[in-house]
Amino acid sequence: METGQTLTITRPDDWHLHLRDGAQLAAVAADSARRFARALVMPNLAPPILDVAQAGRYRRRILDALPAETSFQPWMALYLSEETPLREVARACDSGFVLGMKYYPAGATTGAEFGVRSPERVYPVLEEMEKRGLPLQVHGELADPEVDVFSREAFFIERVLLPLLRRFPGLRVVLEHVSTREGVQCVRDGPQLLAATITPQHLLLSRNAMFAQGRMRPHHYCLPVPQAEQHRQALIEAATGGHPRFFLGTDSAPHSRPAKERGCACAGIYSAHAAVELYAEVFEAAGRLERLEAFAAFHGADFYRLPRNGQRLVLHRADWTVPSELPFGPDTLVPLRAGQPCHWQLRAA
Ligand code: NCD
Ligand code: ZN
Repeated sequence: METGQTLTITRPDDWHLHLRDGAQLAAVAADSARRFARALVMPNLAPPILDVAQAGRYRRRILDALPAETSFQPWMALYLSEETPLREVARACDSGFVLGMKYYPAGATTGAEFGVRSPERVYPVLEEMEKRGLPLQVHGELADPEVDVFSREAFFIERVLLPLLRRFPGLRVVLEHVSTREGVQCVRDGPQLLAATITPQHLLLSRNAMFAQGRMRPHHYCLPVPQAEQHRQALIEAATGGHPRFFLGTDSAPHSRPAKERGCACAGIYSAHAAVELYAEVFEAAGRLERLEAFAAFHGADFYRLPRNGQRLVLHRADWTVPSELPFGPDTLVPLRAGQPCHWQLRAA
């Protein structure tokens, strides 16, 4: 409900989140817990979360890092590798806290070196997932150095995703952090069991943001890489259009300031400190604020066949300035919108 000055919605879920571990986890967990009821936590730690036992221990560390007064629930994704044993699928389904397996093409992104080189090698596991109803989360970029970086999603769709969907028609698949018009089209035209998450950074930034005023901006660099403006417009239309198979996943991916500001900058943008507020800006600018709730709190829960949340979240219209940096373990990080105003604010709990 929007009254002009406040916006009250069902408490959203974040279906794609990087929480890291140790002191970094402790630094960022509260930002997500303040805003979201649940999150799907990505497994690309070093070393990766390859099985249910590791996921259970990681989940415990997350719960221990959360503020005392929170009902935030972390759901876990396992890291799919060519060595993932078939039995892990049944274990995941029985665990009560694993919501899928994450397909990283080997070398495509941060922590993807243990990912999939030949898709066929994971087909037996995918078949088992299809049989048991365990969803697959896909990083949809072809990690071929010959392929232009801005075309990697489109190539992945043609060469890997479409063949996979044809082969496993009963598999539920999420094209994570969809970044292109082609990706949006693929989900719109695709089967009922195919969905996509959309991040605030891909809704707010085109590739120009990585090169603003003639300088490289590592804090605007993530993967998949932000695309040209017409792709951003396609994402805005998908997110705000009310289609039930597009839903919220921030891909909030914190890296320390030194890891971003160096000759070889890491990919990833931190957005958990203002995620819902930033989505609200996008929906408002599109004249579709009334559709934020379904995108943020209903579509993902419905896709994952989980109950919708009962609690509410209240935002109010008020400018505040995002800090230019935030504590991040022994370092700091530079969040999305650093030093700039954000137009919606979370009501203090
Ligand atoms: C993510 C990270 O840093 O873990 N980086 C990113 O740019 N999105 C990995 C990922 O989701 O690709
Ligand atoms: Zn991610």
